[in-house]
Amino acid sequence: MRIEQSPEFQIHLQTLRSKEELFLETIYNVGNGHLGVRDSNPLQGNNHDYIGSPGLFINGFFDYEEVAYGEKYRGYPDNNQVINRLFDPRFIRIKVGHEDSMTDHFKVENIDKNLDMQTGLLHELFSVTTPENRNFNLVVESFASLSKLNVYGVRYSIIPTNFSDEVEVIKVHDYVNQTVHQQDEDVRVSTDLGQMQLDFIPDNGQPSYLVTTFRSQQGAIITYEASENFAPNPPIEYFRDDNHHYGYRSKYYAKPGSAKDFEFLFAIGDIHPLVNANMYSDQYLSSLNNYINDTSFKSELMASAQVWQTFWLHSDVEIDGDPALQLCVRFNLFELNQSAGRDELTSIPAKGLTGNGYGGHFFWDTEIFMLPFFAYTQPDVARELLMFRYHTLQIAKEQASDFGFGKGAMYPWRTINGYESSAYWLAGQAQFHINADIAFAVEQYYEITDDDDFIRNYGFEIILETARFWMEYGNYADIDGKHQFVLNRVTGPDEYSALVDNNYYTNVLAQHNLRLAVKYVRKFKGDDGILSRLHVTDEEIAAMRDAADAMYLPYDKAKNVKLQFQNFEQLPKMDLAAIDQSMFPLLLHYHPLMLYRHQVNKQADTVMVDFMFPEGNTVDQLKADYEFYEPITTHDSSLSKAIYAIIAARIGKDQQAYNFFSQAVQTDLMDVYHNTKNGIHAGSLGAAWEGIMYGFAGIVNNASSFSLEPHLPSTWNCLKFKVHLYGDEFKFTIYQDSVAVELMNGEGADITVYKQQKNLTPENPRETWKY
Ligand code: BGC
Repeated sequence: MRIEQSPEFQIHLQTLRSKEELFLETIYNVGNGHLGVRDSNPLQGNNHDYIGSPGLFINGFFDYEEVAYGEKYRGYPDNNQVINRLFDPRFIRIKVGHEDSMTDHFKVENIDKNLDMQTGLLHELFSVTTPENRNFNLVVESFASLSKLNVYGVRYSIIPTNFSDEVEVIKVHDYVNQTVHQQDEDVRVSTDLGQMQLDFIPDNGQPSYLVTTFRSQQGAIITYEASENFAPNPPIEYFRDDNHHYGYRSKYYAKPGSAKDFEFLFAIGDIHPLVNANMYSDQYLSSLNNYINDTSFKSELMASAQVWQTFWLHSDVEIDGDPALQLCVRFNLFELNQSAGRDELTSIPAKGLTGNGYGGHFFWDTEIFMLPFFAYTQPDVARELLMFRYHTLQIAKEQASDFGFGKGAMYPWRTINGYESSAYWLAGQAQFHINADIAFAVEQYYEITDDDDFIRNYGFEIILETARFWMEYGNYADIDGKHQFVLNRVTGPDEYSALVDNNYYTNVLAQHNLRLAVKYVRKFKGDDGILSRLHVTDEEIAAMRDAADAMYLPYDKAKNVKLQFQNFEQLPKMDLAAIDQSMFPLLLHYHPLMLYRHQVNKQADTVMVDFMFPEGNTVDQLKADYEFYEPITTHDSSLSKAIYAIIAARIGKDQQAYNFFSQAVQTDLMDVYHNTKNGIHAGSLGAAWEGIMYGFAGIVNNASSFSLEPHLPSTWNCLKFKVHLYGDEFKFTIYQDSVAVELMNGEGADITVYKQQKNLTPENPRETWKY
């Protein structure tokens, strides 16, 4: 198979605005949801004076770090979880005559880097000069396989330009705690723990290691093999040095202009509990070897490229009329696909697998900002992501019980293994909305896919246990002359407010969560014991229905505005215009309480409700909310702008919609927040996809009848994408004044555009709407 490189899928170094080393390390990462490798200078990846932040991350492979509290109260997590940064598999040592890249300072210049998103291949050209001015070109090609998630491949080609001499190439990874430059004091960046241990697994003809953690008691096996198909001879040989380090080396006589290639396939194991890792290491190793023995860099690259092709076939979003944003959109989709865990035991870290920012934790980012992309384009992956929540449901129930709640589940705000990892509970654990976010996502996934097995065996239980939590947490109170259900002292999505009463977002989501429980109890009534297994009673469900109906939603009638929380309007406004730009993001410069006592938003909060529950809102209502919240929102969270773009599109503020969208979509490729060096903003990339779909394509109703009200930016000629709905696939082409839909496969369904419903079937697979 040969794939022609299409220019619209390439990220060339020349096209990037910033050439800053750490930024490039993030942008040129390669990953596949199981593993992620930051880009790096391959000759200096392990030197102590190297200013880069390279490394390998395995999704879910973490260690604990004890949290040091001034005052530790009951229920505070003892430990923080931090994803491990492992050695840089790109690292290579090259000796030219008596000069050695390990000990002498080889100057390494980036000549070109190109990420081919069509195939997932990163191609780089470095010009390397030794202290004695011997120069060679070093070509490095690498990929993380999408067809075998345990596989990572790297190939080096050395081409001397001005010398003939003996060259020795050594590939040894005898360390595990990658040394990195710790960059700044940003609270969102995590410190490496550096507590892993590396044990060599006795000689099996290739370097193999068991990497283990001390506190979390996890183990993973890593091994790699040099492919035999490089030329010319002599071949690379497996060796063990005096320090008992295993690796490969090759010595040959190099001549100007003649290239020599070295190829390595790594197999990066799954994570096991330490006891199993120790006990079954031989067994695990031999399964890993199956992935990399008797194959080659090229065959694995081709197999992986084929999966990428399939990905683009179903998931691409084509924008005709905006080439600059088109590239950003593709980069975002590429990164989302590289970040999603697919083993039901992991989810999507907030920074993907491109850094240890936010500790490698999973947040609501997955369910609310990224899951829709997967549900519509790769429903299997969406299901796997939700199954992570199912598998950690017992832990969430334990947490609720530890907190003192009699029933229900309390999902962690941020986590890797299902346990809470937020030491700052005000903006962490108190974000109870995570429970309802997960339930919302379960329902959304089910509506889009009709996956009955999932809802029956897993999804319903998540919905029920999270609904039970609200019944435990909330209470009735008399407000405005009515007996209303209230949720006091909670933190909503906006992290510039904490511990508020009746956060509009939380209350609406909790109401939805309760109603979902009632709906599914009705659905499963009389059905093979599901309800009795989960001990559901009629009284419990009646109480949920009543609480949902009586949910208090703070509202300013005079202004027609949904209030972020009760008494929100009593807080003074912060004069954002008077604050110097250098003070943003405010979270890095103000004490949290200064922010909490003001009307100032870090991110979309109430406006999220307008986005997630579009039906029943008048344009006037949306406008009132938008105009009230937009001026007090700093968008210090990268999750915010895309959501504002959606509402702006819905209320006809076209220019603002486009501006917000273009900033959201450029978040990482254009380094909008100046911190892409610490890793991508995965949630924001997903939010940008939502900006297109829910803003410009204008999805109103995800499910029972998929409906759209498009609002294309005036400069776009057309927008094309495919979605999976109820097991079928549809292709949408949206023009300024019409929409064409084609049923690609499946039984067909009703599609509604601007309230006009049409039925697509295999006999009638194409329809057009004009407006
Ligand atoms: C945002 C949260 C988000 C987290 C991880 C924070 O800055 O306020 O809403 O979940 O980042 O992306």
